[in-house]
Amino acid sequence: MAGGDLPPENKNTGGTLDMERIKELARAIVFALVGYRPQHVTPEMWDREYRDGQWEYLRKMDSIAGLVSILGYCDFLKPASILDAGCGEGLLAEKLKLLPYKSYLGMDVSREAIALATQNLGDARSQFVVADAWLFDTPERFDVIVFNQSLYYLTDPAGILKKYRALLNPGGRIIVSMVDNARTRAVWRLIDPVFGIEDAMTTTQGKGTVVTKVMRTD
Ligand SMILES: C[S@@+](CC[C@H](N)C(=O)[O-])C[C@H]1O[C@@H](n2cnc3c(N)ncnc32)[C@H](O)[C@@H]1O
Repeated sequence: MAGGDLPPENKNTGGTLDMERIKELARAIVFALVGYRPQHVTPEMWDREYRDGQWEYLRKMDSIAGLVSILGYCDFLKPASILDAGCGEGLLAEKLKLLPYKSYLGMDVSREAIALATQNLGDARSQFVVADAWLFDTPERFDVIVFNQSLYYLTDPAGILKKYRALLNPGGRIIVSMVDNARTRAVWRLIDPVFGIEDAMTTTQGKGTVVTKVMRTD
């Protein structure tokens, strides 16, 4: 699967040190030596993966940890407006519909994902748009901006968060959620010192561990 670091490192298929664990160890060494590198996936590859249903496995019960932690933070923060950066086919949007937000905008570079999300989840409160995260711009401002399992596909994670901080309403929050592995630990090392952490939640379930943080934006 081109989508790379998912499923998470924690999967253990044999009980012995399998190939995944060796690759993960190699990645940790590379990131420690040369610094963070994003997982490189082209928009065409994303389109193919969504068309082929390769992300369907995230709909199972053992993959709810990250979604539930973001839903919990949003339930607490009560945002009227939400931007979901790298929303994919709308797994988070589906969960967030429980909340009384006024507007939700999902943005993703994959046309295929956005077509699926629009068809299945688009409504008067919820819209989806195709855009590259670095090129995306809007006059709208948001109470919460979420990067759910999308930040580690982007170059310069601290730079992109600074760009999106400018799209927040006063008092708005950025929520970042990532599966725990060598690459995402390298991302946290870059963004934690720049933004600081208002709160963090770590959830572990069958498929692995997900870390979700509300970043300081003041
Ligand atoms: C692992 S998927 C997560 C999707 C969704 N957030 C979820 O949790 O189901 C990563 C998503 O990031 C999107 N993405 C990757 N690079 C992007 C970019 N430069 N701009 C916008 N979206 C991007 C991909 O198309 C993909 O849908």
